[in-house]
This record gives sequence, C-alpha cells and structure tokens, in this order.
Amino acid sequence: MKSFGSRPWMLPQPVLIIGTYNADGAPNAMNAAWGGQWDRGEIMISMGSHATTENLARCADFTVAFATKDTMVASDFVGIVSARNDPQKMNKTGWTSVKSENVNAPVFTDFPMTMECRIKEKMDESEEGYYILAEVVNILVDENYLDASGSPDVAKMNLITYEPVSHSYFALGEKVGNAFADGKKLK
Ligand SMILES: Cc1cc2nc3c(=O)[nH]c(=O)nc-3n(C[C@H](O)[C@H](O)[C@H](O)COP(=O)(O)O)c2cc1C
Repeated sequence: MKSFGSRPWMLPQPVLIIGTYNADGAPNAMNAAWGGQWDRGEIMISMGSHATTENLARCADFTVAFATKDTMVASDFVGIVSARNDPQKMNKTGWTSVKSENVNAPVFTDFPMTMECRIKEKMDESEEGYYILAEVVNILVDENYLDASGSPDVAKMNLITYEPVSHSYFALGEKVGNAFADGKKLK
C-alpha cells in the first residue's frame, strides 16, 4: 500500500447544485461536492465564501439538485464562475427555473430530483465560510423519473459523481445489488 497523507479524497462525492436567489431576485447556482446526509431529514454542506453565501445570509432557503450527465458541463461551469464576476452566469447554463412552492429558492427544472431546504444552523462560521446544517423541507422528482409504482427511479436519472483524486466526473453505473439484503447471504 502507498501512503498519500491527508487529502480530501472521500469517495465518491456528490455533485450538488445549490440554488439561491441573488439580491435582485435572479436565480443563482453553484456546485458543491462537500455535502451529504446529516440525519434523517437533514443534510450538511461545507460552504465557502461565494455569491451563494451572500444569498444565504439574506435568506436561509435553498435548493439542492443532483447533477446529471446531461447537465454536467453547466454544472461544472457554475462551480468555476461566480455570479459576483459574471452577471450572465445563469443565462450561459441554459437552465430554466421556477420558484419553489415550499421554500424561497429556485427549482432548476433541467434536473430530475431536487431537495427544497432551509438552514437550521451555521456551524464554525468565519469569513471563509461555515458548515450548513439544513432541514430538507421537501423533495421534488420530475414525473419522467418515477417507476411504475410512483417511486423515484434513480437508475433513470443518469446521475454523476465527483472524483476528487483526478478532479473528474463519473457517471453512475448499473445497479449491482440490494442494500440490507444481499449481505444476508453470509449470515
Ligand atoms: C467540483 C466542484 C466542487 C465544489 N465544491 C464546493 C463545496 O463543496 N463547497 C463550496 O463552498 N464550494 C465548492 N465549489 C466552488 C463553488 O461552486 C464556486 O466557487 C462557485 O463559482 C460559487 O458560485 P457563486 O459565487 O455564484 O455562488 C466547488 C466547485 C467545483 C467545480
């Protein structure tokens, strides 16, 4: 085994698209990989200092969409360009948004699944940012991505993950097993 010391190499990482409203009411989006489930109805995100951070200081509501193969280029774009520097940022993505019915934040309709969230707590706040602990108020799934029983069909969504070792995006592959079930074979 070769040692690499401490690196931010948790594998795999999500590609979260955080939606907020700018001061003028226009939607903004940024990419975040450092986030995950915190508790049953709660998520966490490591938030730096961005236009999004300013938006969240005015309003604690935001959305989290899960990036897909189809939205990959624009999802990376919103992670490398700030609304602070490019007022045309969101026009360049080509994404469409509607206002969430449950929180004061945009829902980008180009994504199959979106969490509608509200900050509960900002942890370790400093000029560099903080850790968001947020309540998941509701989850929206485009009807085109439901299975016959009406449940979200994640296999249809073509989700991507972020691979931090080589800074790559990978498409999720095929289903290989059933959680809490296949392991029973070894009981
Ligand atoms: C792959 C990737 C992952 C990122 N992960 C995070 C993250 O977890 N937290 C964060 O604060 N910024 C993260 N960023 C950086 C922001 O997305 C980026 O600074 C963005 O331009 C901020 O946009 P805004 O200033 O318009 O809000 C990531 C960027 C990329 C490309």
